[in-house]
Amino acid sequence: MSVLRNWAGALWLACSLTTAPTLLAQDRPAAVPFEDSMAQRMQACTACHGAEGRAAPDGYYPRIAGKPAGYLYNQLINFRDGHRGYRLMGQMLEPLSEAYLREMAEYFAQLDLPYPPPARITLSDAERRRGETLALRGDPALKVPACTQCHGAQLTGVLPDVPGLLGLPRDYLNAQMGAWRTGLRGAHKADCMAPIARSLSHSDVSAVSGWLASQPLPANTRPAPPPGTPSPKDKEPAGGDNFCSQYAEPPATSLPAGSLPATTAAPAAASSTASSTSPATPTQATIERGRYLSTLGNCQTCHTVQGGTPYAGGRPIETPFGTVFSSNLTPAAAGLKDWTADDFWQALHHGTSRDGRLLYPAFPYNNTTHIAREDSDALWAYFQALPPAEAAPPEHQVRWPFNTQAALWVWRTLYFERGNTTQSPLAASPAPAEAGVTSAAAELERGAYLVRGLGHCSACHAPRNALGANRDMLDLAGGIIPRQNWYAPSLNDVHEAGVQDWPLPDVVALFQTGRTQSGAVVSGPMAEVVKHSTQHWRPEDLRAMARYLQSLPRTDSAAGKGASPPGRASATPGRNAELGATLYRNHCMQCHGEQGQGVRTADGHFAYAPLAGNRTVSMSSPANLLQIVLNGGFAPATAGHPRPFGMPPFVLALNDAELAELLTYLRSQWGHQAAPVSELDVRQLRHMAVR
Ligand code: HEC
Ligand code: HEC
Ligand code: HEC
Ligand code: HEC
Ligand code: HEC
Repeated sequence: MSVLRNWAGALWLACSLTTAPTLLAQDRPAAVPFEDSMAQRMQACTACHGAEGRAAPDGYYPRIAGKPAGYLYNQLINFRDGHRGYRLMGQMLEPLSEAYLREMAEYFAQLDLPYPPPARITLSDAERRRGETLALRGDPALKVPACTQCHGAQLTGVLPDVPGLLGLPRDYLNAQMGAWRTGLRGAHKADCMAPIARSLSHSDVSAVSGWLASQPLPANTRPAPPPGTPSPKDKEPAGGDNFCSQYAEPPATSLPAGSLPATTAAPAAASSTASSTSPATPTQATIERGRYLSTLGNCQTCHTVQGGTPYAGGRPIETPFGTVFSSNLTPAAAGLKDWTADDFWQALHHGTSRDGRLLYPAFPYNNTTHIAREDSDALWAYFQALPPAEAAPPEHQVRWPFNTQAALWVWRTLYFERGNTTQSPLAASPAPAEAGVTSAAAELERGAYLVRGLGHCSACHAPRNALGANRDMLDLAGGIIPRQNWYAPSLNDVHEAGVQDWPLPDVVALFQTGRTQSGAVVSGPMAEVVKHSTQHWRPEDLRAMARYLQSLPRTDSAAGKGASPPGRASATPGRNAELGATLYRNHCMQCHGEQGQGVRTADGHFAYAPLAGNRTVSMSSPANLLQIVLNGGFAPATAGHPRPFGMPPFVLALNDAELAELLTYLRSQWGHQAAPVSELDVRQLRHMAVR
């Protein structure tokens, strides 16, 4: 997703590059005592939206405090699912659960803070009159109702989900109307603003925005109660925005908000729609087994567009050779309707489609080839029982010559090796807790099967060559994920992602909750793996995987520690250590502690991760460290850790030289001896972050 995709984004960027640093500096008093509160958790948001959700008077950031909770929640879903384009927020919200997003919306909705005085805006008399007319009376000729019709007589919004229009910057109002006109702002539910914005001319938009931004606020700034409610109780009525529905355009997707948790997408018509070609109708138990296997394999994440119908495909996967779109796996004509269980097995095992086409390795068939036939059949039964979704994925956009079957044939000859697992270790009952020699071996086999096949860990954790491949495609020695610039660290190396020395419960906790008691957290692409897949694994499967990971041969990158990674000129370490230390004090210490020790909550877990002795900080590749500091974010919200704390993004607050000094400082503090980070490293990643 691109920030500059819309002119709202472009405009915002221009403003914030100048306003953000001061904002960030001002909003953070020197020593705030830690408390386990929502306000503390939401600091990642208030860094931009102002302390306690007030917009900066001179900025583009919209105020969010006091807006109707239903409205705020809808917007969070819209950003997450790309109906509103703003990458920094979208990716911050991505690892969170709908329950947590709702809690955030309710938190900001109940904040009752004074508004700044209205902006002084110069409007001609004609503009002022036109703006007032549109706002209070509308324009029947243009079929534009008065803004007050929906936004409330006082224009302070209407519960549960129509926002107020006062106290917002004029630039922001203009940008939103523009985004609706050009289709860049949409909604996951019925959207009645798009037709209104399109009916207004540029000068109408400018007049009404100017008028709105210069209005004083009434004494009571709270949103009005829903239409048809006599008493001002804040109970949510059914269909409070009736008036809206007259104007509404159909929602962008057919899904209601929040109907997409990976594990609850139960097949609608159990066995009745199973393929007529399969010899026997699969049992409910087989379908349920297939559902679980699909969770183990995280098939849904790749095969679902954000916010779209589960398994209907069409999600873009960026590769160095172009964009590949995932297939529709539902029993629809555009999906697997005419397939047989054999065709499906061929796809997983040989990487070929039903018509014999060689598939792109963006589908990790180097891993799925290790799935046993009985597991393939259970997956097949599950997909056949899904409700058919008639959506054809877009055509792949891969560059010549990589888009030819000949190129794929060559690639496969070099890098694809068919698996030969005959029996699924998952079918056997798990090793008992008091494991004897044989059951220990069975547990390792189960773990290996999960890591190599369904878990497709090597799809990210393997080093890659220029053809996006590795001689041994099951290697786990670590690699940069192309196009995303996250480094999936080596699972062999105890200084990277190796867990050989960890207590077993810590390893299990990492995959089940996204964090450990000792302060490790998963981020970026790994947070998605935990959120959508591993948190839902059964305990016996998590333990088998953990044991297998602990049995991997170990390497030790610390042998070469301090050495600069090849191909990068080493910056002079400590060139400006004083600047690094100052930046740390001003921007990071409040959360991560004076000695990088982090902050714990009462249950002994970390609210703020320790940075001292942290592998992400001291790993030889600085890629993940940079990603985290540029983009901020939250650990994934999981059943075991439902309300993570957040970190603000620094991409707009610190420049390349400052970031290089700060990260170099972190990498040489508290006993760390990692290579310095250069301005060039930062520039390359920042470029990707802002795109
Ligand atoms: C890097 C700065 C930044 C951060 C961090 C940030 N936001 Fe935003 N937020 C923005 C901008 C800019 C917009 C307006 C985007 C647009 O043009 O649509 C926005 C819009 C919103 C809106 C829609 C407001 C409206 O009136 O429609 C909500 C709600 C919101 N943010 C909530 C949050 C929450 C919750 C967080 C923390 C998880 C957060 N934001 C973090 C910059 C930020
Ligand atoms: C038919 C009902 C209706 C009318 C009339 C209407 N609006 Fe809206 N407006 C809405 C709804 C509903 C939303 C929330 C959209 C969403 O959830 O994404 C909204 C949102 C907005 C927003 C976004 C606010 C924010 O914080 O991002 C702006 C700006 C806006 N309207 C301006 C106007 C103006 C200006 C007028 C009058 C010319 C107007 N609206 C008339 C229903 C209406
Ligand atoms: C990393 C993303 C990713 C994951 C994970 C993934 N797939 Fe796919 N899959 C794709 C892409 C991309 C394609 C399209 C490849 C092509 O058309 O060349 C695809 C194609 C397929 C096809 C072939 C469909 C056809 O029309 O030829 C099948 C079957 C399939 N996937 C099943 C699965 C199953 C089952 C799982 C889980 C065990 C899974 N996929 C996990 C990305 C993924
Ligand atoms: C989509 C790509 C992707 C897949 C698939 C993936 N990983 Fe990761 N993994 C990453 C990235 C990137 C990181 C580094 C970020 C971080 O530390 O969380 C990481 C980090 C880790 C870590 C270190 C976490 C820490 O905090 O020290 C472990 C352990 C790990 N992965 C194991 C696995 C296992 C086991 C699998 C297969 C079940 C797997 N990963 C699948 C991308 C991936
Ligand atoms: C408002 C509190 C807050 C501030 C300020 C803050 N962080 Fe964080 N930081 C967090 C939280 C919460 C996490 C864990 C969330 C995550 O992993 O995404 C985190 C995670 C990290 C991590 C990843 C740790 C790991 O094990 O993967 C690094 C590195 C980091 N912060 C560095 C910094 C630096 C450098 C600064 C100053 C520029 C900073 N942080 C400022 C709250 C904060």
